[in-house]
Amino acid sequence: MKIMIINGPNLNLLGIREPDLYGKETYEQLTEYVNNYAKQKGFELTIRQSNHEGDLIDYIQEAYFENIQGIVINPAAYTHTSVGLLDAIKAVNLPTVEVHLSDVAKRENYRQISYIREACLATVSGKGFSGYLEALDILLRHLTQNSDGEF
Ligand code: DQA
Repeated sequence: MKIMIINGPNLNLLGIREPDLYGKETYEQLTEYVNNYAKQKGFELTIRQSNHEGDLIDYIQEAYFENIQGIVINPAAYTHTSVGLLDAIKAVNLPTVEVHLSDVAKRENYRQISYIREACLATVSGKGFSGYLEALDILLRHLTQNSDGEF
């Protein structure tokens, strides 16, 4: 089983950026945390991060061309602006779970729209790093239900 995690703009600054909202742990700690989970569960994990919208679209297409089976994506600010990301997820038609560290539903009005949500299996929000594991679990459950059960 091959899965890709895609992180959007400013998530590379975790630990520095607004720690009251996003926590004190760094981006490197997040990657370690999800990589350990992949080892424990026995699936292959590719992690990508960019501050640029077009790069995020390229990663979604890369997932398709590299025969990755599913995507967990935190598009960060592009969640609320990007039809291009929605179109990319629809184009590759890979099962995708949306994740946010903070509880976007309880934040500003301009964060209430997610352009990608309609193309995603589920959205996990407000659970910090553990939300990524929950998103991976949702994806793994979906993928194993739709295959022979082998990772
Ligand atoms: C975020 C929420 C977005 O609204 C924000 O722009 C981010 C991070 C989150 O993980 O909580 O950059 O996606």
